[in-house]
This record gives sequence, C-alpha cells and structure tokens, in this order.
Amino acid sequence: MAKIMEMSSSELVQSIQSGNLKVCVIGIGRIGLPTALSFANSGLPTMGIDINSELVSMIHSGIFPLKDEPGYGTIFENVIKEKKFTATIKIEEGVPVSDVILLSLPTPMDENNVPNYSALKSVGKQLHDLLTPGSLVIVESTIEPGFVEDDLISIIEGSDKKLKAGKNFGIGVCPETANPGQILNDFERLPRLVGAIDDKTANIITKIYHHVFTVDLIPMPDCKTANAVKLTTNVFRDINIAFVNELAMLFEKIGIDVMKVLEAAKTKYNFQVHYPGAGVGGPCLPVNSYQMLNLAKRIDGSLNIVKVGRSVNESMPEHVIALLNDGFLEARKNMENSEVLILGVSYKPDVKDIQLTPAEHIVEKLKAKGTKVKIYDPYFKSTNVFGIKTENNLVDALTNTDAVVIVTAHKEFHDLEPTFLSTKMRTPILIDSRGVIDQHAAKKANLIFRGLGRGKI
Ligand SMILES: NC(=O)c1ccc[n+]([C@@H]2O[C@H](COP(=O)([O-])OP(=O)(O)OC[C@H]3O[C@@H](n4cnc5c(N)ncnc54)[C@H](O)[C@@H]3O)[C@@H](O)[C@H]2O)c1
Repeated sequence: MAKIMEMSSSELVQSIQSGNLKVCVIGIGRIGLPTALSFANSGLPTMGIDINSELVSMIHSGIFPLKDEPGYGTIFENVIKEKKFTATIKIEEGVPVSDVILLSLPTPMDENNVPNYSALKSVGKQLHDLLTPGSLVIVESTIEPGFVEDDLISIIEGSDKKLKAGKNFGIGVCPETANPGQILNDFERLPRLVGAIDDKTANIITKIYHHVFTVDLIPMPDCKTANAVKLTTNVFRDINIAFVNELAMLFEKIGIDVMKVLEAAKTKYNFQVHYPGAGVGGPCLPVNSYQMLNLAKRIDGSLNIVKVGRSVNESMPEHVIALLNDGFLEARKNMENSEVLILGVSYKPDVKDIQLTPAEHIVEKLKAKGTKVKIYDPYFKSTNVFGIKTENNLVDALTNTDAVVIVTAHKEFHDLEPTFLSTKMRTPILIDSRGVIDQHAAKKANLIFRGLGRGKI
C-alpha cells in the first residue's frame, strides 16, 4: 500500500476510515500520551515511543500514568483492550512502519533560560535513518517560529540526499494548546492550528486531525506562523500576569484590594482578566517567553516588554517572602527557627505538576533563612519534594506551625476556614498569594493576614 504522502485523496480518506493508517507518537508524556490515546481511540493503530522505560513498563502493565487527566483512564483501558495502542522504547520499531509520525517531545530551557531543542534534534537525526519515504512528520511540541524551516528539516534530510522535505516526506506542525488536568476537554473544545511545508501536506494533516478531533482546524500559511500564534497567546498571558503583579504590589501599599479592582475591571467588554500570584511556572508560559526572546535575539529584534514581564514574574517569590516577613514582624517573632507551612507546590491549581513552580523558589529562600519549611499539597502527600518530606494531612501539618503560605490555589484551599487555621496553628500568620481567602474573615479569626495585592485592613 502507498505511504501517506503518495496516496490520492480518496485513498487517504479510505485509509483513515478503515483504520489502516499507522501512527506513532514520539514522546508520550503529559501531552503526547493523551494525544496518542485520542488517535488510537479514533480507530487508528497508534504506537507510543518514549525513552522513559519506566513509563513504557507502566503502560505495558496496564497502569495509566496520568491520574489527574479526567476521561483518559477509560480511553486507555479501551484502546489497550482493542489493541489499538501499544508503547515501546524502541524508535526503530515504530517509525519505519508508520505513515504519520507525531513529535510531542519536550522543549524546555536550560539553567540560563536558553531554549533547549536537543530532544527534537536528536529524534530528527534518528528520523533521517528510520523514516520510510512517503511518511508525514507532524511537530506538536512548542517551538520557536523558524525551528522547523531552519533546523529540523535539514536535520531530517541529512547530508546524503536520501530524503527531501516536500518531495519524499511531508512535514508540518499542529501546536498543542491543551491545559494539563483538562486535556480531554480541551481536545474537544480548543481550535488547532495547522501549518505545513506546502498545501498538500497541510490538507493531509487537516484530514487526519478532523478524523481524530472534533475541533476547528485553522489553516496557517506555514509552520513558522502557526508556531508564532502558539507563542503569542502564551506570552500575552505571561505579560498580562506581570502587569497585574506590578499593580498588585502597588495597590498593596495604599490599601486597594487588587482582587476587587479586577472583579470590577472585567465587567468592561474589552478587559481580559489575569490574576496576580506567587509567580508563573509550568512547562509553557516561562519557557514560551524565553523562546520568543530567543527568536528576537537570533534575528536581532527587540522585545523589551517580554523581558520586563519575565523579571517581574520571577521577582514574585521574593515579594511573598517580604509579606511573610511583615507577618512575622507583626507577630514579634523571628522567621528564623520558625516553622512555615507551604500550601500547594504545583505550578497551577488542581494538577500534580511542579515544573518551574514558584513554590520551589519560596522554599529555597526560606531554607536559606534557617526557617523550617513544611509542605502540604493534596497532590503530593507523603512524598519528597525539594528535599522535604511532604505532609500527609493538613490538621497534623498545622500543629506547631507559625505561618501558612498559600502558594497554589488548589480547590481544597478555597474552602479553608480562617478559624480552623487560627485555632490549630502555634502562631496565626497567614499569607495568601492567590486571593483565595476572605481577608475580613481572616481578621475576625484573629489571623495575622497578608494577601498579595490586598493591602492591610
Ligand atoms: N504540558 C503542557 O502543559 C503543554 C501544553 C501545550 C504544549 N506543550 C508542549 O508539548 C511538548 C511536550 O510537553 P510535555 O509537557 O508533554 O512534556 P513531558 O516531559 O511530559 O513529555 C515528554 C516525553 O518525551 C520523552 N522524551 C524525551 N526525549 C525523548 C527522546 N529523545 N525520544 C523519545 N522520547 C523522549 C520524555 O521521556 C517524556 O515522556 C513541549 O514542547 C511542551 O512545550 C506542553
């Protein structure tokens, strides 16, 4: 049978509908695994490929690794039972026999905030050796505009002229936009962007994604424009959060509650609300801003606002420590040798994920001051996080605690009763960096309360 790039339009439709089209997804982590499962669930035989042998063994044992992704547990069981999904650590088992090769590889940054595309580059080299002519490569990873055109294509083509993009393999992008913790919901709701090396490839990608997902597919003129859209939406958020973070710190000084300002501001038709907090973490927003800055640097452009936004957001853990310090001053206690309980270490609410979380900076700064740090997070109970054995239950964790710092707005913390805290704690200092506590209730409960952007009452 012809490979996908050589099929006629009707052959392609037939091959998709009959479930003959073979797919492999390289990188089956947070995004790649749900993606692979959605492809398998649509009837296309799908192989997940990952260098993480523990993850692959888990899948072989029938254990679904992403417990905080609603809906996928059942899909996982079904596609395994129907033999539509398999996993392997051997890339050579998947690529040569696949029509479509999806890349959902990590694109993190190094300790100097320089984007690191080594996983994509190393898999690109393997594709050069393993790709069967006529296959289609789709990059779902978040990359800088121009990475496919300027780097990846030449890596896959290699120097021996065996493969030529647009001639005997297709390549395009379909950047991933789902939110951890609600990926299935987002896959059914959020439009996707499709960009490719040529129209033929873009049309093929669109047909396949239409079969798997029910969402709108937005055609982009090329790969770099699609990647620019993906970065623009996330950098927009990073900058807007920096803006409200600066407002929060300003308003705090004159007793204006930033949460009240934002609640009212959002009633205006063209105001899009963002909320202040202890910092911006996760695998996307901070990295995406640095990807955009890297692009600007590469082409000698300037992007000052992104740079400033990053530095504001990266200063927020220090501001949380300043609020805490203020609370200790009011309590006439030293922060050194006191016990501080951090509530929430995930970088965002209701997910089990600590990638680039601001909580780590807060914990490290407190440890450096000689403060005893305890952690309670419903997603990280009795485990080790940042070298600290996390607490198993909140009531026990509060005993001997001098200050509580809410760092992540997990659902459980929205329901915290101020009196519950003040009666259990040794010293009743509460720092709310996420605006989840009613500060009047906190005052009534005799808590020494400091809220980020809230001002004293
Ligand atoms: N997590 C998110 O919220 C999110 C949202 C949208 C887009 N993205 C983007 O999607 C991409 C993937 O992110 P993720 O969060 O799923 O990352 P992840 O770290 O959860 O998963 C990546 C997987 O790739 C595997 N891997 C690494 N190198 C490999 C190699 N050489 N060969 C095979 N497998 C390899 C890892 O073992 C891991 O399982 C990134 O570009 C990210 O920016 C992530």
